[in-house]
Amino acid sequence: MTVIVEQPELEVEVVEKKDDVEENELLLDGGFVVPETNSFGQTFRDYNAESERQSSVEQFYRTNHINQTYDFVKKMREEYGVLNRVEMSIWECCELLNEFVDESDPDLDEPQIEHLLQTAEAIRKDYPNEDWLHLTGLIHDLGKVLLHPSFGALPQWAVVGDTFPVGCAFDESVVHHKYFKENPDYNNPAYNTKFGVYSEGCGLNNVLMSWGHDDYMYLVAKENKSTLPSAGLFIIRYHSFYGETQQSRNFGIMTTGLDF
Ligand SMILES: [Fe+2]
Repeated sequence: MTVIVEQPELEVEVVEKKDDVEENELLLDGGFVVPETNSFGQTFRDYNAESERQSSVEQFYRTNHINQTYDFVKKMREEYGVLNRVEMSIWECCELLNEFVDESDPDLDEPQIEHLLQTAEAIRKDYPNEDWLHLTGLIHDLGKVLLHPSFGALPQWAVVGDTFPVGCAFDESVVHHKYFKENPDYNNPAYNTKFGVYSEGCGLNNVLMSWGHDDYMYLVAKENKSTLPSAGLFIIRYHSFYGETQQSRNFGIMTTGLDF
C-alpha cells in the first residue's frame, strides 16, 4: 500500500528500501510500515471472517450500494458543506457518538468512544512523536455524528462503510460489488465508464467519494481551518477507502484504507 499526499508533513522514520522488512508487513512510501495488527493485537477489518454480523453487514452494503449515486453525493456535500448544524467541542462530540454502533463493521462491537481512544493510543504507542497523528486518530470517526438527530439522523448507509468514487464505473474491488447493479448510475452512460465525469490524472481530491462520515469530518476540519497537516486531513477524508489500487491510480493518487 502506498500513500502519496501533496507535501505530507510526515516526520516519521523514513524506511529506505531495505531487505529486512518482514514479509507480512506492508510498506508505504514515505516511511510507514503497516503491520497486520495494531498495538493491542487487534486485526483490521476482515469481511471474509465468519461472524454473526456477516449477513447484516452484507445487507448494509446492499442498501449502501443501491443508494450512493453521483447526484446523492453532490446534494449531501452541498447541504452539509455549509456547517450550519451544531457547534460543540471535540469531547462533546466523542460522547455524542458513543450512542451509536457502526453496522458496517464486521468485527467492531465496542462502543465508539473506546474505538476512538484505542485508535489514538495505539498510534501514540507506535508513533510517539507524531502528535498530529494521535489527534487525527482521535477525531477520524467523529463524522459519524451524522447518525444523530441534531445532524439530520442520516441512515447508516449514508454515514458508515467503505467509501468509493461515484460518477465513474464502480470498481470491482469494492466489497459486495454485485449490489451496484441496482444503483441507477450503473447503467447511466455518463457515469459508468472508467473515468466517467472525470479525466485521467485529475487528482483524487477532485473525485466525489460516496457520502459518509469521512468526507463530512474532512469538510468540518477544513472549514474550521484545522491546523492538522495535509496528511492528517488526507487520512480523515479517505480512511474508509479500501477499494483503492488501480482506480485511485487512474485519478493520479494512491491511497489506502486506514481504519486504525
Ligand atoms: Fe471511520
